[in-house]
Amino acid sequence: MTTPVLEARDVTMRFGGLTAVRSVDFTVNSGEIVGLIGPNGAGKTTFFNCLTGLYVPTEGTVAYQGRVLPPKPHLVTQAGIARTFQNIRLFANMTVLENVLVGRHTRTKEGLWSALLRGPGFRKAEKESEAKAMELLEFVGLAAKRDHLARNLPYGEQRKLEIARALASEPGLLLLDEPTAGMNPQETRATEELVFAIRDKGVAVLVIEHDMRFIFNLCDRVAVLVQGEKLVEGTSEVVQADERVVAAYLGEPFEGDPGEAEAAEVEAAEAAAASESDTAAPSETGTAAASESDTATPSETESETAVAESTGDPEDTTDAESTGTTEGEAQ
Ligand SMILES: Nc1ncnc2c1ncn2[C@@H]1O[C@H](COP(=O)(O)OP(=O)(O)O)[C@@H](O)[C@H]1O
Ligand SMILES: [Mg+2]
Repeated sequence: MTTPVLEARDVTMRFGGLTAVRSVDFTVNSGEIVGLIGPNGAGKTTFFNCLTGLYVPTEGTVAYQGRVLPPKPHLVTQAGIARTFQNIRLFANMTVLENVLVGRHTRTKEGLWSALLRGPGFRKAEKESEAKAMELLEFVGLAAKRDHLARNLPYGEQRKLEIARALASEPGLLLLDEPTAGMNPQETRATEELVFAIRDKGVAVLVIEHDMRFIFNLCDRVAVLVQGEKLVEGTSEVVQADERVVAAYLGEPFEGDPGEAEAAEVEAAEAAAASESDTAAPSETGTAAASESDTATPSETESETAVAESTGDPEDTTDAESTGTTEGEAQ
């Protein structure tokens, strides 16, 4: 028997006159990988923000394992839902290991302040936390970089680190918002393997992606959001064959050669960076595409830009300074 891990009922989110999400019912069962797709501006990220308590839905409820969630990010994380962000959010000046340790604070008795102040009861917990964090870094393939600053990691590794940090809160459900945006094809394939491995650990996964090959390979079920409404939902085969879905994506390749898929990925990443970032300088919008290149060594400025991008995110309600302090909570 399948148990719903997540049950969203009749979720609507309005911003003034704009209805970004309209009466969406949505279920994720345990053991499932579910995809959420739809054109840019369809309301996917807004829906994620409703699920994780960043937004209080105008209408509707979200339940995790049968219990309705209070719309507060830290309570949602505590309940067992973790997420990553479309525009990477890391503590840029902390090390890789420290970023994961921050992700664990909801699961340690000592809490964040004790961790930061290194109180007396902290040492034992610290050892355990570090062992767990290292396990996660092994799992995502970043153990060797534990002492590197997050901002110096190439783009693809920053995305992996975000996943490790999300997993550190020991979630039962992981939400991934465009985890392969800006990745090259090899990195995308590795991410696919990583998501399967996460599911095999017993964590249900809900993933937003533009890369159709990625989605249809990966997902047990796919839902299509168009203009805030759920248009179609079903297995990859059913969704792929649905004419309304094809129409909604007119011009975007579904199958075809890797070259096309790759081009669509770059386009999607660029479009996302451009549309999500009000304040983006022209150089910033090129970041995802720049790190796409195999030969490009990720220069410091480039990685910094990737991190800095997060401050232009409309879902980011904080300024550049305070992002660092609220971020743990937003997880
Ligand atoms: N905080 C916000 N305030 C006002 N409008 C928003 C806000 N966040 C998103 N929107 C709008 O909601 C719609 C859906 O956006 P979004 O959820 O980011 O789409 P997607 O993730 O599918 O590309 C867009 O029209 C966007 O401009
Ligand atoms: Mg989005």
